[in-house]
Amino acid sequence: RAEADPLRPRFHFVSPAGWLNDPNGVSQWNGSYHLFYQYNPEGAFHHRIQWGHATSTDLVTWTDQPVALEPSAGQDAEGCWSGVLVNDGGTPTLVYSGRLEGRELPCVAVGSPDLLTWTKDAANPVIAAPPAGVDITAYRDHCVWREGTKWRQLVGSGISGRGGTAFLYESADLRTWDYIGPLFIGDASQGDPADTDWTGTMWECVDLFRAGQGSLGSATSDGSPDVLVFSAWNDGDTHHPLYWTGRYAGDSFEPAALHRLDYGGRFFYAPQSFQDESGRRVMFGWMQEGRSDAAMVEAGWSGVMSLPRTVTAAEDGTLRFAPVPEIEKLRRDHVGLSGPVLSGLLEPLDTGVSGKQLDIELELELEPGGLVRLGVLGSVGGGTSSPAEETVIELYRAADGGNNGTLRLDRTRSSLDPAVDADDKSGPVPMPGGRVHLRVILDRSAVEIFANGIALTARVYPTLGGDHVSLAAEGPAQVQSLDAWTMAGIFDGARSLFP
Ligand code: FRU
Repeated sequence: RAEADPLRPRFHFVSPAGWLNDPNGVSQWNGSYHLFYQYNPEGAFHHRIQWGHATSTDLVTWTDQPVALEPSAGQDAEGCWSGVLVNDGGTPTLVYSGRLEGRELPCVAVGSPDLLTWTKDAANPVIAAPPAGVDITAYRDHCVWREGTKWRQLVGSGISGRGGTAFLYESADLRTWDYIGPLFIGDASQGDPADTDWTGTMWECVDLFRAGQGSLGSATSDGSPDVLVFSAWNDGDTHHPLYWTGRYAGDSFEPAALHRLDYGGRFFYAPQSFQDESGRRVMFGWMQEGRSDAAMVEAGWSGVMSLPRTVTAAEDGTLRFAPVPEIEKLRRDHVGLSGPVLSGLLEPLDTGVSGKQLDIELELELEPGGLVRLGVLGSVGGGTSSPAEETVIELYRAADGGNNGTLRLDRTRSSLDPAVDADDKSGPVPMPGGRVHLRVILDRSAVEIFANGIALTARVYPTLGGDHVSLAAEGPAQVQSLDAWTMAGIFDGARSLFP
């Protein structure tokens, strides 16, 4: 413990100490970005959750602010769970889940003009109980928006034996809510429990928005879909973000198709988005740990906030993600390889790039049957020797795959520690003409991968301290160019526990 923790990210937001989970109240207010988050400063475990708070003028560097919400006598005595920030005619207002006696109910708090001091509503909880006569699995987390002269709200839930859902409410003042009904009910038996598309018995952190122009409930001018993002949860292994595309109209949502939001599954959990003042939709997600509870407590910290990513709709209505361009200002020491860098069957190429904090961009061209493999955090120099530890990112275009290929993160050799999560992560990627733009952002134990806008986010726990980057192509594949940068840290050492 004498040295700074080598696994602690340096340019992703992490809490000053202890535990972090979901992003909450993400927003831009009078120019400043606000990131609140589920926080336990007492230790790296989930207990008596508060709302941590940080602000930013550029979505890159963050300033810690005082804790915004803390449990107190009443409905949130056991925790201030997830929620959102809305602008109530100029008054910053939080709608969140207060936990008491093991159950959550909707609560409200209003903020000072600088959003630093919050006062809980004396009438909390503002909804006294879940809908009557329904056998629910859970009831928490909020999505709140303005529609005409009214507020609307979704509360995440699930109906026993049927599936996840979100209950829809309406209010004139954010304090008195009329129950409308379930927005729609997912089918928990859809697919197989082992299938990552499984929709869960409970939908956590529902987030409903219009993906393109226009706002919820209005007519669409450009056909852009409405999107319902949720984190599918069950008692077993299901913890992953999914989204339905469809149309929200009147009091219901007509689902069109279900999609995985991030192939890393639980490593990009409980995402929440907002539209910033420039009109972009920006999303944050919780990059949870892939190590044991004891290892987190020992490390003294747990949980990483993803970089903010823009969300756009592709022509087929599915979502595409990209880190906000502001992140590029952390880039230092460019290394560029161009030309066709590689083609055909080759041994791994030593790229000349190394580091644990990197932003790497590749332009690839894969013929049917072609594969490109990027290795990061390798602990042995290039050449033919197989590194003792290495995290491998693969893009593959099947011989008969048409314009679709596969993105895969292979963590089987990411760590010599047998206790950390090393599950395979993969999913399909559209690659018109075999072309792929691959972006890999590495921040020590945090990895964010974008292949033609499809995201795969995960955590890795190398033990050997390797920082080697290698590249190989197999079969008919070319790497047209590689650009890499070292990424500067954003915390001046303040987040390095035990410096
Ligand atoms: C999702 C979640 C939410 C809840 C919060 C508690 O990770 O379980 O459903 O509000 O975390 O910290």
